[in-house]
Amino acid sequence: MIDILKETNFDFLGPKKVGKVRDIYEQEKQLILVATDRHSSFDRIIAHIPRKGEVLNRISAFWFEQTKDIVPNHFLAMPDPNVTIGRKCKSLPVEAVVRGFLTGVTSTSIWTHYQAGKRDFGNFTLPDGMKKNQRFDKPVFTPSTKADDHDRTLSPQEMVEEGIIEAQVLEKIEEKSLQLFERGQQIAAKKGLILADTKYEFGLDDNGTLTLIDEIHTPDSSRWWYLDSYEERFGKGEEPIYFDKEFLRLWFKDHCDPYKDAVLPEAPLELIEELSRRYQTIYHDLTGEDIPVLSGAIIPRIEKNLKQYTI
Ligand SMILES: Nc1ncnc2c1ncn2[C@@H]1O[C@H](COP(=O)(O)OP(=O)(O)O)[C@@H](O)[C@H]1O
Ligand SMILES: [Mg+2]
Repeated sequence: MIDILKETNFDFLGPKKVGKVRDIYEQEKQLILVATDRHSSFDRIIAHIPRKGEVLNRISAFWFEQTKDIVPNHFLAMPDPNVTIGRKCKSLPVEAVVRGFLTGVTSTSIWTHYQAGKRDFGNFTLPDGMKKNQRFDKPVFTPSTKADDHDRTLSPQEMVEEGIIEAQVLEKIEEKSLQLFERGQQIAAKKGLILADTKYEFGLDDNGTLTLIDEIHTPDSSRWWYLDSYEERFGKGEEPIYFDKEFLRLWFKDHCDPYKDAVLPEAPLELIEELSRRYQTIYHDLTGEDIPVLSGAIIPRIEKNLKQYTI
């Protein structure tokens, strides 16, 4: 039976902050980021997916290594498969979203805006007649603010005008985000995958250097599609084959009101296992390696690894 990591309470690491997915222990110069198996949708935790934290953490580590020549990142060490030690940075209030395709279903997605008639996005315009899931001539930068309640999409000009971020910093974020995305797409294509869109977070380190933080190109921060079937399915107006949590979302929508109900039902084990398999598959497809088989209890293992690391 595979253990599931729901939360941690490592008092020996200092005060804990709880993100949707990560437990974060803040130290003087570094953050200890523990990726749990929590799965969020509808702005709440809807399930726990075996091995998800580990997969996200390993995928990020892979991409930090593959992109470190483009922009410095926070990665210092991975003392445990679920843990990244990151350089503590002052995080910048921008979600650096890059999109390679006209897609999405939520109210903030670019397809939703396009379908409603929007063509001028401030820093780029789109022609009439585009179809859902069509590839852009070149990827576009559509940043949003990191607001506590919800993210707002603003054009880069509006972000600067509202005093959210300095023009020069935002320009550099755009330049680096587009380069990261291009690298991501190139590597993905060699593995038979499409990185359709993604979100980066940046911070400033102690020297004021722009630094990539948080996570990169994970299935939580990005849309991943299969390359081989994309063209044919797009031509027929079908959705690409994707690694997505959409089917789990649909199940919750059919079985409760995930926005209102205080207590949610538990998703069927087959769905949970299916999503767990998808996370492991994308790790395999991306890195060419099977994810190592781990057994035993996760919390004591992390504790042991971190005690060794922090000594
Ligand atoms: N190197 C870093 N310096 C400062 N903050 C960071 C760094 N890396 C990640 N973070 C922050 O830590 C949190 C990670 O936890 P997560 O569960 O992903 O949070 P969220 O609920 O905001 O998605 C995020 O708020 C992210 O901005
Ligand atoms: Mg996050």
